Amino acid sequence: MTRQVYLSGQLVAEEDAKISIFDSAVLLGDTVTESTRTFGHCPFKLSEHIHRLYKSLKVARIDPGMNADEMLNVTLRMLEANLPDYREGDDCWIVHNISRGAFIPGPDPTVQRSVATVMIYTQPLDLRGWAKFYTDGCHAVTPMSRIIPSQSLDARIKNRSRMAYTLAEMEAKLVDPEAQSVILDIHGNVAENKGGNVFIVSDGVLKTPRTTNCLAGISRATVMQLARLRNICVEETELQPYDLYTADEVFFTSTPYCIMPATKFNGLPVGDGQVGPMTQRLLRAWSEFVGLDIVRQARKQLPASEAG
Ligand SMILES: Cc1ncc(COP(=O)(O)O)c(C=O)c1O
Repeated sequence: MTRQVYLSGQLVAEEDAKISIFDSAVLLGDTVTESTRTFGHCPFKLSEHIHRLYKSLKVARIDPGMNADEMLNVTLRMLEANLPDYREGDDCWIVHNISRGAFIPGPDPTVQRSVATVMIYTQPLDLRGWAKFYTDGCHAVTPMSRIIPSQSLDARIKNRSRMAYTLAEMEAKLVDPEAQSVILDIHGNVAENKGGNVFIVSDGVLKTPRTTNCLAGISRATVMQLARLRNICVEETELQPYDLYTADEVFFTSTPYCIMPATKFNGLPVGDGQVGPMTQRLLRAWSEFVGLDIVRQARKQLPASEAG
């Protein structure tokens, strides 16, 4: 079946979903975004994602032309139209991209001159790129580029202007083609990954940067929630590279993979160089929470020779 996407008021076949080359999404990268995922075809924390979307829209001063409840309803309608295409065991992303709409060059790019362009779609959740990191851990690397300071663009506005993140990720991959970035802020504090938040475990305490320099990740909040329910001490604090070098465990959090362990940081082993017990415990806790084995689902997508 052709994928059905939602475009500014209607569900249309993917090939009929066309936007103008003069849209502010294209001309200005002026777009806020959300990515939610499903577990067993059920959206995970969709209301929280839509709540964050509306905060981004407010701060970006974009009027989406509908309220949060309406956004939730059209999203569910779009998901329902596409679920027959997903096999049992496979899941999808649900992506929202909302731009200010038509852009007319002139002295004032801030005026919203048309209705917003609201784009919502599902995407098969391809986990192959992350699957082996659950068991082997990834190599976390600090790129040269720093995160855009929140004084310029608040990191809590989840937006589609990804140039800075992409360049930082490319720099990390100069060190190791499979590296995952740990981007620092202009003060040298750990901020975030190009698409994830960063955690360390140090003497049994789970630590993560405050949201002064990173996105308030829904997965970040989920990990903190799961940890606190298990009486694990959680601290939101400043972290420097030193803290990652000397941590017992390091991991990233993000919607598609939930938790991605890092077993190497800038070439040095993290702890004993193995995926740590707290990381594994939190991954198990998340799997229990959603009733689906997160690691198994990802590893099942690997070719048999790599699945182990
Ligand atoms: C820059 C950035 N940081 C962190 C995250 C993690 O956020 P979430 O857990 O809500 O997916 C993302 C997600 O795409 C992101 O783009």
